[in-house]
Amino acid sequence: MPDTVNHVPYDAHNSEIIMNIRNITKKFPVAGGKFLTACDNVSINVRKAETIAIVGESGCGKTTLLKAVMNIHAPTSGEIVFHGKDITKLTGEEKRQNYRHIQMVFQDPTAAFNPKMKVKNIICEPLLNFNLIKKSEIDEKARELLEMVELPGDFADRYPNNMSGGQRQRVAIARALALQPEIIACDEATSALDVSVQDTVIKLLVKLQQERGITYLFICHDLALVSMFAQRVAVMYLGNVMEKIDGDKLDNARHPYTRALLKAVFPVATKDNFTIETLQGDIPSPLDMPAGCPFQDRCYKCADKCRTEKPVLQELDYNHYVACHYPVTDEELCR
Ligand SMILES: Nc1ncnc2c1ncn2[C@@H]1O[C@H](COP(=O)(O)OP(=O)(O)O)[C@@H](O)[C@H]1O
Ligand code: SF4
Ligand SMILES: [Mg+2]
Repeated sequence: MPDTVNHVPYDAHNSEIIMNIRNITKKFPVAGGKFLTACDNVSINVRKAETIAIVGESGCGKTTLLKAVMNIHAPTSGEIVFHGKDITKLTGEEKRQNYRHIQMVFQDPTAAFNPKMKVKNIICEPLLNFNLIKKSEIDEKARELLEMVELPGDFADRYPNNMSGGQRQRVAIARALALQPEIIACDEATSALDVSVQDTVIKLLVKLQQERGITYLFICHDLALVSMFAQRVAVMYLGNVMEKIDGDKLDNARHPYTRALLKAVFPVATKDNFTIETLQGDIPSPLDMPAGCPFQDRCYKCADKCRTEKPVLQELDYNHYVACHYPVTDEELCR
């Protein structure tokens, strides 16, 4: 495990809970009258000024969960309570106003930006949409927001195509910051960047969090990356949260799936005759969910009970929850 860097000094465990994601299930209708369960009964409490990383292989339901939080699509069941209101039920102007408080940054901002718009218009568009600035104020506001993301003010007159990937992602962050949201949802926001650029963008996000108390929901498939700055980590598999753990305690993860993900990125020390298998094969189809544990076909610890009884999240330790009948034990783990 590398040294943790830039852990926010904010006491993430004692800050106010600003959002309760409660029992969110999202089923998509697919061909043949079947349903695909993209999120299955997901519950996460979101605190002010913390980063919650949501990790897992492609297709495990991370984006679907964020889209429910962003109110882009309604969940099949469950609720998302934000400042006392279930935002999944909002409609009309109330729903529109809610977008001010929760903004999103995507993996590829180029797709979200109109290439014919100057950076200043891209950044200030949300402010104009909510009538928060006049057109005459665009230049000044754009410069202010560009400075926040450590880009020169004269980038305001550039077009998105005349920038590097890292610079474009900073513009996307500036646009997300414009409305002073409480939560920014980042969907693989740094995944397409070179490692060194990724590092500077993460440092910028952490700095902005410290200055402004922003909460991040940070979707990522890179456990090593999130261990460096996320206070909380939720590990998803086939739409289910398998483990919730503090980011700086990831080396104590006890779900066999989390351990397999860790093994893929860190050299994990084990006792002489004990090996943790790395992940074999692809994530199974969410259309053919087995009875019992979703991870059973790839789990080296799978036993009879795992094939019949679905494990639910249980508190193993303070702030540490695992959905597994046979979590990895101290004996199995050499720490
Ligand atoms: N609009 C949709 N219709 C049908 N299936 C979908 C839709 N969106 C996502 N899915 C399916 O839901 C599952 C989870 O997808 P997604 O949330 O995008 O995963 P991730 O972001 O973790 O890669 C996948 O099997 C995906 O194919
Ligand atoms: S419940 Fe069983 S199959 Fe599932 S992760 Fe735990 S040991 Fe493995
Ligand atoms: Mg996704």
